[in-house]
Amino acid sequence: MTISLHGSFTSLSRDAYLSETVFERETEMVMGEQWHYIAHTSDIPNPGDFLVETYAGESVIVARDRDGGVGAFFNTCRHRGFALCQSRAGNVRKFTCPYHQWTYGLDGRLIAAPDMPNGSVINYDDWGLHRVQVEVWEGMIFICLSKAPKPSIGEAIETYAPQLRMAEPSKWKKAAEKRYPIAANWKVLLENFLECYHCKATHPELCAAMDLDGMYGDILERPIGQYSGGMVPLKPGMMTQSMDGKLVSKPLGQFANMGAPPANWGAGFQITPVLTRIIAHVDHALIFSIRPIDVGDVEWVARWFVHADAVEGVDYNLDRLMEVWLATNDQDLSLCVGTFQGMHSRRYVPGPLSALREPAINSAVQLYRSMMAAPEPGAFIEQA
Ligand code: FES
Ligand code: FE
Repeated sequence: MTISLHGSFTSLSRDAYLSETVFERETEMVMGEQWHYIAHTSDIPNPGDFLVETYAGESVIVARDRDGGVGAFFNTCRHRGFALCQSRAGNVRKFTCPYHQWTYGLDGRLIAAPDMPNGSVINYDDWGLHRVQVEVWEGMIFICLSKAPKPSIGEAIETYAPQLRMAEPSKWKKAAEKRYPIAANWKVLLENFLECYHCKATHPELCAAMDLDGMYGDILERPIGQYSGGMVPLKPGMMTQSMDGKLVSKPLGQFANMGAPPANWGAGFQITPVLTRIIAHVDHALIFSIRPIDVGDVEWVARWFVHADAVEGVDYNLDRLMEVWLATNDQDLSLCVGTFQGMHSRRYVPGPLSALREPAINSAVQLYRSMMAAPEPGAFIEQA
């Protein structure tokens, strides 16, 4: 299989967005090989809390064990494969498969199999749930489906966006989440979210506080690697990303201890090519992610976070908290659907990218091609 590019400053060729074969390889070589934000520890605060998420065609259980640790497992019973957790979230003492009652601990170990005693028929140690790589950094839970051990995502965040610590993500709570099913290839979303060439014409709400000129050349629009991060510029005097630049919730983290939070502070970190983007302002934060489902079907997940102690109606109001990104997401998603529709034309060939406004698309495309060209899953290592 080949994926052709028409020069280094275009996006991918039409077949890369429309081919089932390409999507199947991406599932293994790209989605399956990256860290992906899945949940916040405040989503599963108590021992036995679990949630189930789908990513890259896999159903994954994320569970809090008795010791407060977080584990992640493929949602498939080791006996004959029943999808063990049928609900999206809950609290259990252990996971019992409804089919033949094989039972697993919160740490994924097999602890009972009726009429198949441990040691004499099977060795339970060999039949625990398949583990998903999981790492928790400051309350954020990341998973990676790869069999190959991956370098720490927490270290990457510390390297690329050390400023995020100031907002103390472990003390956030999710105030809202919105999932958008979109009829588009996931790379159309990726490219849209890697450039702000379209922002001035499309996003009046986003541009109310965002420093568009500062954004060109900063986090969203400079050449990127698999990880990138830095400051997210707001217009002078703006305190946060809101319609009037005024705070929309109580200050996060270290900003709570300051007389007044700094103006024009924002920090971001992102993973590409399957996008996870974390943006923290002084009073609220956002985590966005792309969940590819099929070649022409993708989910965009937007989550809004506030201080863990913030009270709705007192410290924040959901309409104001969500106003900018609800509008911006709707605008972006209709751009993505329209782009995907237009790409179906047999006359479509990718046009030139703006080296000034779209360099991050170019670098994401190069990264994607390298991952797709790796000889086998787990073999891709980005060169510094
Ligand atoms: Fe789960 Fe048989 S498939 S116990
Ligand atoms: Fe946009």
